[in-house]
Amino acid sequence: MPKFIRKTKNLIIRPLETNDYDIWREYYLSMGEPLNQWDTRARKDSELTRKIFKNDLKRIKNYLDSDQSINLFAFEKRVGKMVGGLSLMSIVRSLSQSCFLGYGIHQNFWGKGYGKQAVAAIIDIAFKDAQLHRIEAGIEPYNRRSIMLARSLGLRKEGLKKRAVFMRGDWRDLVIYSATCEDFGIKWKKRELPKRL
Ligand SMILES: CC(C)(COP(=O)(O)OP(=O)(O)OC[C@H]1O[C@@H](n2cnc3c(N)ncnc32)[C@H](O)[C@@H]1OP(=O)(O)O)[C@@H](O)C(=O)NCCC(=O)NCCS
Repeated sequence: MPKFIRKTKNLIIRPLETNDYDIWREYYLSMGEPLNQWDTRARKDSELTRKIFKNDLKRIKNYLDSDQSINLFAFEKRVGKMVGGLSLMSIVRSLSQSCFLGYGIHQNFWGKGYGKQAVAAIIDIAFKDAQLHRIEAGIEPYNRRSIMLARSLGLRKEGLKKRAVFMRGDWRDLVIYSATCEDFGIKWKKRELPKRL
């Protein structure tokens, strides 16, 4: 399997490609009012131009090349629609080999098991392809759906990080759910860095 690509029962998880413009646009245009405060915001037509798409692609590639974050998307196998976004953010190598996990499923597809399939796939990618040792999901304490998802994947509740992130105009607490590769039966493998000339 090529790097950063996984197939699950209903989904393909992969990086965004140049010819994804139409499905990328449809993804944001087809969103209604957010269903809760964590739901992805729809974008207006003027925020969905080819130029903005190209810039998004470029930004994602720069993050990947500089090992800052890995951004992937979930596509429905059957009809090819984009149904979610996933990221391994704030990658730290050195002593911790860790990152934060981010995920969102398009509101029209909640409750179908897509979140669980997509997040299980990106966890596998984090440990095998990105050779990270530890992932952490920071979830607001009353984001019940996300907490259920983290629990159902076997992530470990570690505690409450007080006033951890500035979002929606205030500092918010996060419950930390985490896992290391050993929790998933994967042995950590040190990443070979390209040799300097
Ligand atoms: C959180 C989110 C990704 C869940 O995606 P989803 O596709 O609806 O999740 P799934 O259908 O795979 O369900 C995952 C688990 O959540 C639970 N769940 C599903 N539907 C639920 C509901 N209506 N109420 C409560 N829990 C529910 C179940 O326990 C399920 O596990 P199980 O299959 O082992 O029973 C999605 O709601 C979302 O994108 N929310 C907005 C963004 C967000 O909150 N991101 C996380 C920020 S930390």
